[in-house]
Amino acid sequence: MKVILGVGGGIAAYKAAELARAFMERGATVQVVLTASAGEFIRPLTFAALTNQKVITDLFGSGSADEVLSSSVEHIRVAQENDVLVVAPTTADLLAKFASGLAPDFLTTLYLAFTGKVILAPAMNTNMWHHAATQDNVERLAARGNYILPPDEGLLACGTTGPGRLPDPAWIAEAVVTIGHPRKDLDGETILITAGPTQEAIDPVRFISNHSSGKMGYAIAAAAACRGARVILISGPVDLPQPYGVELVAVTSAAEMRDAVMGHLSDATIIVKSAAVADYHVANPAPQKLKKTPARMSLELDPTVDILAEVGRNKGDRLLIGFAAETQNLVSEGRRKMETKNADMVVANLVSTEGIGFGADVNEVTLVLRTGGVIQLPRATKRAVADEIFDHALKLRLALHARS
Ligand code: PMT
Repeated sequence: MKVILGVGGGIAAYKAAELARAFMERGATVQVVLTASAGEFIRPLTFAALTNQKVITDLFGSGSADEVLSSSVEHIRVAQENDVLVVAPTTADLLAKFASGLAPDFLTTLYLAFTGKVILAPAMNTNMWHHAATQDNVERLAARGNYILPPDEGLLACGTTGPGRLPDPAWIAEAVVTIGHPRKDLDGETILITAGPTQEAIDPVRFISNHSSGKMGYAIAAAAACRGARVILISGPVDLPQPYGVELVAVTSAAEMRDAVMGHLSDATIIVKSAAVADYHVANPAPQKLKKTPARMSLELDPTVDILAEVGRNKGDRLLIGFAAETQNLVSEGRRKMETKNADMVVANLVSTEGIGFGADVNEVTLVLRTGGVIQLPRATKRAVADEIFDHALKLRLALHARS
């Protein structure tokens, strides 16, 4: 992806360096354009070193006749050569200029000349953000098709607390990848995804859970959103940011996850059950904190509802993808779970293998298919695995339709 990164003159401009790096890490080329005031906060050299490209800082260069002539068309060239224009931070001043079509410098001129996707990440003092003028400008820009990444809430550099903070650069980069992704082959699908662990209460301060971080399920959700799907992510307690373009339903226990899944089932065309749902819950959680005593203690556990099996009984013609976390007999256990729970595909992973599975950024999975096939995928990032799962799921659905 070819990204233009416009940087406005706000205190968050320093985070734009991290953003440039996040784009480079995702394989993008990055053309940085600094406004004059951004150049007061952070030097062009920083961006030039990070992106290996000359940074554009003004409309007319040094003012020599030659430079004026070549730079007077440079904004057109930059506009034509790139896929997305990201402005981070977008100051209140830039929002106002973009909204009213003012073009006093390179970035604002480029904005008018650019016909691709425009993604604005405003960051400013809370009162400036809440001001009616700013909100009007944001609404006008959104109505024109500009993507607005709203600011985070928190303690701002000016000492106030509230909305105004530039979101995490890695999150912005992921959002830009999602918006700018050229492949929209999941457009029209509604994909219901479960992720993370569940927590089953013992008493108000203790619970039973497992090591799931949610990374696998969140990667699946991000991949689906990138490829154009409406995504409903039902997540147990995890420490991950909500992926851009994904509807998040936060749950805690297996019972809550079951209700959320069944409540959204009618919307879904594809269901992916990657959550590590507790198989047991405490029969009678204590209403008050249990006191420590020297005596041995035991907990009475009841099985939780098997959500995958319940979805399997009610799935109709939806495509159902389950997971299997195994420590041995990967394929036979994957196949058994697929048959008993009426899934169309099971993504089986050997969670005892060093470096993959729970908590890792990579996974190594085997796809067990209703059509009889078994596909072993190479070790890859969870995001790459997620894309492979959807590639095979789409082919599988075609094969299943052809059979019926
Ligand atoms: O979250 P990460 O740290 O990224 O780790 C990823 C992962 C290891 C959790 C993931 O790759 C994975 O294997 N998820 C499934 C974990 C699991 O619970 O597997 P299982 O074999 O116990 O369950 C089989 C299937 O039944 C799963 O689709 C599970 O969601 C589902 N299930 C299980 C129990 C239950 N009560 N209801 C269910 O729906």
